[in-house]
Amino acid sequence: MRKTIIAGNWKMFTDVDEALRLVSDLKAAYKNKNKIEVVVCPPFTNLESVYNKIKDTDILLGAQNMYFEEKGAFTGEISPSMLKSVGCKFVIIGHSERREYFKESNELLNNKIKTALKYNITPIYCVGEKLEEREAGKAFKVIEAQIKEGLVGFTAQELKEIVIAYEPVWAIGTGKTASPAQAQEVHAYIRGLLATLSDKKTAEEITIQYGGSVKPDNVTELMSQPDIDGALVGGASLKADSFLAIINY
Ligand code: 13P
Repeated sequence: MRKTIIAGNWKMFTDVDEALRLVSDLKAAYKNKNKIEVVVCPPFTNLESVYNKIKDTDILLGAQNMYFEEKGAFTGEISPSMLKSVGCKFVIIGHSERREYFKESNELLNNKIKTALKYNITPIYCVGEKLEEREAGKAFKVIEAQIKEGLVGFTAQELKEIVIAYEPVWAIGTGKTASPAQAQEVHAYIRGLLATLSDKKTAEEITIQYGGSVKPDNVTELMSQPDIDGALVGGASLKADSFLAIINY
């Protein structure tokens, strides 16, 4: 059985006080009726303080990015062992905002995933097409390249340690969600691609999250799709009540 994982990506929001308030509200009302894995991904500067609040709960910590080198003269970058040392179990890799604004390539992301696995940090590898790519009928081609190039060179066992997040760029922060059927179609396609990189049984065990305007009122229908195994939540993870409503879909 593959795991269901819902993660909150706080992006570049929350200073330390705001992060502590958010995580305290989350903790105070925390319920996890579906017994899923719940992850919060605050900015780097909040990781340690958030970890200190959640370490006695089953809420897990993730980072939003990481460099692929283990140490060295890479000013401004953060290494996997640094993330481990503040309690991170997950790291988001290749979010569309990193691909777009920081020009991160599939090849670079492949290296980041490799390093994350080496340090036993679960990478949440993001893929997804832009609006113009969907409208030009290229969505599947783009996703195929992101999956095949980003995940090249991993064994079946390693692939099982990776979480995929399908985030159509046109649905991020726009209030426009992919319909459950649209998302399911892409998730099934991604699972098929994962089978070509390994085998069908392995692909069946890989968690594929959906992300893009997930809210309390659309999460249930999305989660009822056979190949949607969780969510990567942006805006709605910045309020404890909406994030809790999502995890208790
Ligand atoms: P929104 O939920 O705000 O659309 O953001 C999705 C996202 O980018 C999560 O990584």
